[in-house]
Amino acid sequence: MAELFTPFEKGQLHLKNRIVMAPMCQYSVTAKDGIPNDWHFVHYVTRAIGGVGLVIMEMTDVEPDGRITDYDLGLWSDDHIPAFTRIIDAVHEHGAKIGIQLGHAGRKAEDAPQPVAPSAIPFPGERYKMPRALTVDEVQTMVRKFADAAIRAVKAGVDTLEIHGAHGYLIHQFQSPLTNQRQDAYGQDLARFGVEVIRAVKAVIPPSMPLIMRLSAVEYVEGGYGLSHTIELAKAYEAAGVDLFHVSSGGEGPIGSGGRPGTSPGYQVPFARAIREALHTPVIAVGRLEDPALAEAVIANGDADLVAVARGLLKDPYWPLHAATALRATPDVPKQYTRAF
Ligand SMILES: Cc1cc2nc3c(=O)[nH]c(=O)nc-3n(C[C@H](O)[C@H](O)[C@H](O)COP(=O)(O)O)c2cc1C
Repeated sequence: MAELFTPFEKGQLHLKNRIVMAPMCQYSVTAKDGIPNDWHFVHYVTRAIGGVGLVIMEMTDVEPDGRITDYDLGLWSDDHIPAFTRIIDAVHEHGAKIGIQLGHAGRKAEDAPQPVAPSAIPFPGERYKMPRALTVDEVQTMVRKFADAAIRAVKAGVDTLEIHGAHGYLIHQFQSPLTNQRQDAYGQDLARFGVEVIRAVKAVIPPSMPLIMRLSAVEYVEGGYGLSHTIELAKAYEAAGVDLFHVSSGGEGPIGSGGRPGTSPGYQVPFARAIREALHTPVIAVGRLEDPALAEAVIANGDADLVAVARGLLKDPYWPLHAATALRATPDVPKQYTRAF
């Protein structure tokens, strides 16, 4: 029995297997209104048909200026809800569970007239503008915006939510001593903004709905933080209500002389395992896990509880069905497609 195809349960979230579709921005909202369109519908529903256990929809922003580009999804108004519901209902119909990744790009918002950030420090590179430091009142309003977007996601029918605390976006910017040089309480405690977002979101979602947090376990920037800082952050986030960590890395600046650890298969798995061992929460591993034998080993060896695949699912929407075949498990093939398997 392949461990990758065993069910997973956390609170009200029941997955048929351990395969997660990692969040991937599609930059495809041609109307620039943050509302998912037919591209998003087909893209996500196809992966449900392809056998993924949990779909995590791409970074969906809590305000218009929180988008990386104007082509990103958003949940800043109730008008956005029906288009998300259409996708969520169809994903459910095809046997998968679904969550949305809520985020804010902060200083990495490329199309915002003036991006906001913990401190007025720009992301290196010509593409990025000088951000304005949020006032304390604005930080608290931002926390509320995450909660309001969570309320809308729940109304749209999600099974879980993921908070984007990775890849150099707003929450990550607050977590990093390189980008958060505030003198107030949000600078003295680098976990504080994330903790407030988690608490505010937890307060408005059903008590049994698990909350996922994505973190960058290490920064590759010169002077950036490492795993021990992430474990301290994760402990604070766990205490605030996070039920599962999704363990990624990097994204907040140019690679320093320490270098990145490579992008070979499984390159982030050691971080997932370290966080799993240090905490009491399950973890999702991600990063070049599209070799079925490796994905299986990550689960079977106890490195992580779930495996997320991103590019592998762009290349092959039926990756879970092919992985099952490769692992000699029985693929959960839709009846319309059985003659192909
Ligand atoms: C096209 C694309 C868009 C992405 N957008 C997001 C995103 O919205 N949120 C996020 O946390 N990560 C995003 N990522 C990172 C992936 O979720 C994943 O962590 C990364 O691609 C490594 O996994 P892989 O080796 O399976 O592709 C994106 C990756 C790709 C390729």
